[in-house]
Amino acid sequence: MNHFQYRGDELCCEEVPVREIAAQVGTPFYLYSHATLTRHMEAFTSSFASVPHLVCYSIKANSNLAVLKTFVNRGSGFDIVSGGELFRAMKSGCDPKKIVYSGVGKKDYEIEEALNADILMFNVESSQELETINEVAGRLGKKAGIAIRVNPDVDPQTHPYISTGMKKAKFGINIGQALEDYRRAAKMPNLEVIGVDCHIGSQLTKVSPFVDAVKKVRELVEALRGEGHNIRYLDLGGGLGITYKDENPPSPADYAEAIIEAVRGLDVTLVFEPGRVIAGNAGILVTKVLFVKEGETKNFVIVDAAMNDLARPALYGSYQGIQAVNRAVKKTITADVVGPICESGDFMAQDREIPALRQGDLAAVTSAGAYGFTMSSNYNSRPRVPEVMVKGDRVMVVRERETYEDLVRGESIPEDL
Ligand code: LLP
Repeated sequence: MNHFQYRGDELCCEEVPVREIAAQVGTPFYLYSHATLTRHMEAFTSSFASVPHLVCYSIKANSNLAVLKTFVNRGSGFDIVSGGELFRAMKSGCDPKKIVYSGVGKKDYEIEEALNADILMFNVESSQELETINEVAGRLGKKAGIAIRVNPDVDPQTHPYISTGMKKAKFGINIGQALEDYRRAAKMPNLEVIGVDCHIGSQLTKVSPFVDAVKKVRELVEALRGEGHNIRYLDLGGGLGITYKDENPPSPADYAEAIIEAVRGLDVTLVFEPGRVIAGNAGILVTKVLFVKEGETKNFVIVDAAMNDLARPALYGSYQGIQAVNRAVKKTITADVVGPICESGDFMAQDREIPALRQGDLAAVTSAGAYGFTMSSNYNSRPRVPEVMVKGDRVMVVRERETYEDLVRGESIPEDL
C-alpha cells in the first residue's frame, strides 16, 4: 500500500492532504509517512525471520530522532558512522547492544564514547584502527567487540560514488589481508573478535553482487573459525536499492531468500545495515513554484527547494520524481526544475516532461526520504527546511525550520577586527 496517494486530484500523505501541511508549515519541507517507514522496516525484518538476525538501520540515510524512534519501537538497532550518530542513537532510546560502528576515520573521542556506551561492535576498516581501538579500550578498562570490514572486491554495478567494495575503494581491508589482521587482533588484549563485516555499495538493483560477496566472506568466516576465532556475527552491510524511476530492485524477501541460501549452515547471527530501502520511498520533499520562465531553448520551473535541501541530483546526476501536488492540470511541459541557488548544478530535474506547473503550485519531489535532509546544508545561507511526519491523520513537525539566528549560531565578530 502506497501511503502517498492521490485522493481525487490531491496528493495525500496517509490521511492528510499535502496542501494542508504546506499551508501549516510553509515550503519547502520534508514529509515522511510513519506507516511507510514502519512497513518497510517490518518487511525487511520479517524476511529474515527464519534465521538469527539483527537489523541495524543505517542512520546516515535519515537521522531524524522521530524516525529513529519509530525503528527502535520495532526492535531495530543502528549502524552509526560518527559520534554524532551515536548521540542520536542513544537519544532515540536504542539498545546500545544493537549498535554497530562503521567508518574509515573514527577519532579517539568517538571510539571512547562508543566504548562507554557499550555498543555491540566496531566495524574496523584498517590495521591501524585495530591498534587505536585496542589502546583506547585499554585506557578505559573495556573490551571492544570488533569485526573487520573486508573488501570482497565485487562490482556492485551502481554509481561509482556509492560503490564501496572494490579493491580501489578506501573502505575496509582487502579480503586477502584479513586473516593476518584477525590474527593480530586476536592477540590484542582489549579487543574481542566477534564478527566479519562487509558492505559493497549502495542502490544495488541485483542480488548477484550481494551473493558473490557473501560467498567470499563465508570462506573467510570458515577459515577464521578453523584458526579458532569465535565468529558470531556476519554483518552484510546495507545497499539494497529502491525504485526512483524504472529500476526493478529485488524485494527484501527476494534479497533475504538469496542471502539465507548463501549462508546456509553457517551458524551466525546476520547483521544488516539497510538505509535507503527503509527510508527512501517513505519521504518526499514538498516545494513551491516561484516562477516559470519560458526560454527560447528551454523552460525553467524555478522552485523554492534547492541543491542545499536535496543534493542528490546535483551530486550524482540522480533521478528524483517530480509530481504535482494537485494534478488537476493534465497538460505537461518539458522543463528543467531548478532551485534558487547560484550554481548551474542546482537542479532537481533536467529536460523532464512534468505536469505544467504554474506559479504558486506545489510539487512533490519523490523518493526523498533517504539521503535527503541528512545531506542538506546551509549553502547560500538558506535555513534548513522542516521535517514533518504524518501518522494517520496526525501531522507532527519533527524538526522545525531553521531561523536566521540558527544560521549564525556560534559565529562571532572579534571586537578589534
Ligand atoms: N552501511 C555502510 C557501511 C554504509 O556505508 C552505508 C551507506 C549503508 C550501510 C547504508 O546503505 P544503503 O542501504 O542506504 O544503501 N548519499 C548516497 C548514498 C551513500 C551511501 C553511503 N553508505 C546517495 O544519496 O545515493
